[in-house]
Amino acid sequence: MNNAKTVNSSRTTITELMIPSYANFGGKIHGGILLSLMDKVAYVCAAKHAGTYVVTVSVDNVEFRQPVEVGEVVSLHASVNYVGKSSLVVGIKVVAESIKDASVKHTNTSYFTMVAKDDNGKPTEVPGLILENDEDIRRFLDAIKRKEIKNAYKEMLHDTKNNMDIEDNIHLLEKERCIIKRSSDMEGNWHY
Ligand SMILES: CC(C)(COP(=O)(O)OP(=O)(O)OC[C@H]1O[C@@H](n2cnc3c(N)ncnc32)[C@H](O)[C@@H]1OP(=O)(O)O)[C@@H](O)C(=O)NCCC(=O)NCCS
Repeated sequence: MNNAKTVNSSRTTITELMIPSYANFGGKIHGGILLSLMDKVAYVCAAKHAGTYVVTVSVDNVEFRQPVEVGEVVSLHASVNYVGKSSLVVGIKVVAESIKDASVKHTNTSYFTMVAKDDNGKPTEVPGLILENDEDIRRFLDAIKRKEIKNAYKEMLHDTKNNMDIEDNIHLLEKERCIIKRSSDMEGNWHY
């Protein structure tokens, strides 16, 4: 791994003013605007580390905890948390700052998995990551754990979907806000 790079060498921040055209009908910033900025900062950070073109493969943990307002200044701080062979996980912390009252809120932290591609569009090896402090080590370990949990969760979802028997599980709808109107039930009395 003689081409390994530090986390600092690709650390990237994008700062952008939230203008009125980014707002939804409720006057708050569209989630899609933030997602697009997150994708951009993830790209720059991952491409800097990889030294190649990269693509977004998956996005984890997108949960906007507080709305962002027009006039706020949003900063997206990105760093490489983990590298595999051709994949990288970029952690992105999004903060919104109100210039008027100097308040800062942390809106979300999300994780983008990116894959480096060669000139033929094939996944290509990325440099290793030099972990220079406990924070770098913690983030790398966190990413490994998240990957394990995600794989186990994917398998569970796959099994659940493939083994779903409607009649065995239909009682679960009793407490849900839905009405079943299957023609096959019209003679029965289903009112979930
Ligand atoms: C992701 C992609 C490169 C995988 O290609 P592939 O031929 O299956 O390659 P591999 O199986 O060798 O996987 C390459 C890497 O991607 C990782 N990967 C693949 N699918 C993944 C997923 N769903 N989540 C996380 N990582 C994934 C693999 O673990 C592997 O990582 P590693 O090299 O660090 O071990 C391919 O599916 C692709 O190009 N997808 C489209 C991505 C894109 O265009 N994004 C923009 C959205 S429009």
